[in-house]
Amino acid sequence: MLHELIAKRYSPRAFSDKKIEQEKIISLLEAARWSPSSMNEQPWRFIVGAKGEGKTYDKIYESLFELNQLWAKNAPVLILTMAKNNYEKNNHTNTHAEYDLGQAIANLTLQATALNLYVHQMGGFNSDKARELFNIPAEFKPMSVIAVGYLGDLEKLPEQLRSREKNKRERKRLSELVFDESFGHTSKLVLDQNNVSR
Ligand SMILES: Cc1cc2nc3c(=O)[nH]c(=O)nc-3n(C[C@H](O)[C@H](O)[C@H](O)COP(=O)(O)O)c2cc1C
Repeated sequence: MLHELIAKRYSPRAFSDKKIEQEKIISLLEAARWSPSSMNEQPWRFIVGAKGEGKTYDKIYESLFELNQLWAKNAPVLILTMAKNNYEKNNHTNTHAEYDLGQAIANLTLQATALNLYVHQMGGFNSDKARELFNIPAEFKPMSVIAVGYLGDLEKLPEQLRSREKNKRERKRLSELVFDESFGHTSKLVLDQNNVSR
């Protein structure tokens, strides 16, 4: 029942060094651009770095925590994502900005999966450093770095990462997540459902 794009997606650490075609990178960003957002604010912004092309990639990479640097260095594209805190129209706080950015990244990720590309999102980066390196204005919040690329050879990863990569993917059961009547009361809809896994 699960659509193959969703079933196929996961967050790999083994990326191939094969470059991503420019039109494919554009299509990922288009997928994000066409996402829904509160008041159609489109609060997402992206800084895109392709490995070996200018300094952008290296600067994004520099902002990553060390454990992420260990594997993210193989990804051919790194994207720094940001959310705009205030509505352009009235400068009120946009409490949905991060929600909207997450949704845009979900769309980007599905577009990537359709192109046989993989995305690995990271919260493990230094947002102050990213702000400084890229002169990001105060009204924008650096939210994540995402690595994008084709799948690579698992065996080339350092041992500590290789074993993590082989771990079974786990999810909470629907019965823990879906309610009716009151919060925490499992919905009849999902009582007999099993986890769906890769
Ligand atoms: C907001 C966010 C931050 C994340 N941060 C990191 C990170 O810093 N390092 C990392 O290796 N994975 C990170 N991940 C990946 C998650 O660990 C991963 O999505 C989760 O374990 C589920 O695995 P799956 O994506 O393969 O289904 C992050 C994912 C999200 C959505």
